[in-house]
Amino acid sequence: MKNILITGGAGFIGSMLCTELVKNKKFNVIVLDILNYDKNSLNHLMGYDNFFFHNINILNKKKLLPFIKKADLIIPLAALVGAPLCEKNKKLAIQTNEKIINFTVKNLKKKQRIIYPTTNSGYGIGAKDKYCDENSPLNPVSLYGVTKNKAEKLISAHPNSICFRLATVFGYSFRMRTDLLVNNLVKESLEKKKLTLFEPHFRRNFVHISDVVRAIMFAIKNFNSLKNGKVYNLGLSTANYTKLQLAKKINKYIPIKILVDTKRKDPDKRDYFVSNDKIEKKGFKCYKSLDEGIIELKKIYKINGYEKIKNNY
Ligand SMILES: NC(=O)c1ccc[n+]([C@@H]2O[C@H](COP(=O)([O-])OP(=O)(O)OC[C@H]3O[C@@H](n4cnc5c(N)ncnc54)[C@H](O)[C@@H]3O)[C@@H](O)[C@H]2O)c1
Repeated sequence: MKNILITGGAGFIGSMLCTELVKNKKFNVIVLDILNYDKNSLNHLMGYDNFFFHNINILNKKKLLPFIKKADLIIPLAALVGAPLCEKNKKLAIQTNEKIINFTVKNLKKKQRIIYPTTNSGYGIGAKDKYCDENSPLNPVSLYGVTKNKAEKLISAHPNSICFRLATVFGYSFRMRTDLLVNNLVKESLEKKKLTLFEPHFRRNFVHISDVVRAIMFAIKNFNSLKNGKVYNLGLSTANYTKLQLAKKINKYIPIKILVDTKRKDPDKRDYFVSNDKIEKKGFKCYKSLDEGIIELKKIYKINGYEKIKNNY
């Protein structure tokens, strides 16, 4: 049985991915996480004998190293995620998002595999009416983007690596994040019955969390076919929308007033459309739509109460 090491496995993406991997029964899943946010996100896996959880800080190299050595595949998810969090904790962001990745890669043997999700925010301000592909220049606009790009470069240098540049993820997870754009706007629409948008023309590509998990499972299964490509955009090709288009979509399911604040500027300057052709040519396509995601989120927020689902950032 293959050993998969997942750092940050209790997080938004990790808790959903671990669930799929553990239930698949073909792998031993070893998680290292300090449970910064949600202490319960992996409770449902504790009864499985192919699941191993360790409350270990990955910045502790001595403790991390033996786990790296034993892994057949590493999926590093532990990070300080998002521009605001990294701005608030600059030193820790650089250590967690970049330096520990460097340490991890340096200690990998050639045959060990690594799959890494990074952000497509590196495309920064995309050229107008042009779709960014994997060869488009990278121009990260936040410390978060900079650290993730540096980590991607370090990881791509390893011969057995695959990196996914993720679109803005949406959907529910055992460790919920309500700061992500779709998750946030749906929550705000339900709470306030209105959305005040600033820079409503800013464009983004989106992807449902279940498609992110499917893509990683696909990469595990088709590793040799994908590894030569190294870096792939991962997003839903039918979901390249401006913020205003997204708000109008939400309005289909939750009646809201859409207002525009022309004075306020978005600190996150991302404005781009993304092409996902490269991964699609390899046989993988994202399919969960924004409509499905909005309906799902609406139900979950309504049942759980908005206050109970928090970010904890
Ligand atoms: N969610 C997205 O939209 C998105 C998009 C692109 C890329 N990513 C990348 O995917 C990865 C996971 O993101 P997420 O949304 O699941 O974030 P998250 O914040 O929900 O999860 C991160 C996890 O890492 C853990 N962690 C942080 N520092 C640690 C440390 N020093 N030692 C051990 N554990 C530690 C936290 O406790 C948390 O459980 C990140 O690398 C992120 O950059 C996410």
